[in-house]
Amino acid sequence: MSRNPLIVFEGVSKSYTLHYHFTGGIKNFLFHLPSYIRKARSSSYCALKDVSFEIRRGETFGIIGKNGAGKSTILGIIAGVLKPTRGKVAVGGRISPLLELGAGFSFELTGRENILLNGIILGLTRKKVLDRMDEIIEFSGLGEFVDQPIRTYSSGMLSKLAFSVVTSLDPEILLIDEILAVGDLNFQQKCLEKMMSFKKSGVTIVFVSHSMKQVEQICDRAMWLENHVVRAIGDPGTITGEYSSYWKDR
Ligand SMILES: Nc1ncnc2c1ncn2[C@@H]1O[C@H](COP(=O)(O)OP(=O)(O)O)[C@@H](O)[C@H]1O
Ligand SMILES: [Mg+2]
Repeated sequence: MSRNPLIVFEGVSKSYTLHYHFTGGIKNFLFHLPSYIRKARSSSYCALKDVSFEIRRGETFGIIGKNGAGKSTILGIIAGVLKPTRGKVAVGGRISPLLELGAGFSFELTGRENILLNGIILGLTRKKVLDRMDEIIEFSGLGEFVDQPIRTYSSGMLSKLAFSVVTSLDPEILLIDEILAVGDLNFQQKCLEKMMSFKKSGVTIVFVSHSMKQVEQICDRAMWLENHVVRAIGDPGTITGEYSSYWKDR
């Protein structure tokens, strides 16, 4: 299994520091200042606990688990946007992160301007983005909306825009976070086909999804994350089956 891993997590933990809202009002806050300060200092929230896994070059690796399990945190760490609190992480490739929706978007700019902006942020030259502009717009299916400010877009349109930019980048590692849940069936199908063609050309894909069917369809292996720890890693059919029956039995 460990021949030629491209992404390695070894005993990775991640805690977030919590910021308190003083819901008790200012009077309450002032009276209990020492305890508030103690609480604020000591409050951190553990999003990942001792997580270990390896992803091979060319593999499509699914991550499933309920909301808050820590899936997006893993993608953030792979992308280098988040730093682990403990443990070792090694990533050996160029990344096109498709993190949470709209992460790199500027809402006053048009779709077209956002394509340029995001392309450059994600490492393309201006010329390269402009060369691919028509192809990106064509894939997005946004039509004339591409010249409207994206604050007027629906979440489905935003996901189309995000997916279209990222897939135009020749990534070595593609990180996809629940993006296919948004958008119409037609576009989802288009995304799946695009992912299949990436897979065929050897791109390593990390795919976070709530669709057990999609995970079974495109992943080579899957990992089930439960309460911030790894519950199981293995064959996608087996893992999604265990996950579904776990939830059915509760
Ligand atoms: N910036 C943050 N500050 C504090 N807690 C966070 C932050 N980001 C995520 N969390 C918490 O960490 C846990 C894992 O989050 P996340 O990785 O987004 O889970 P998932 O993607 O599986 O839904 C959640 O309980 C979430 O509330
Ligand atoms: Mg998430």
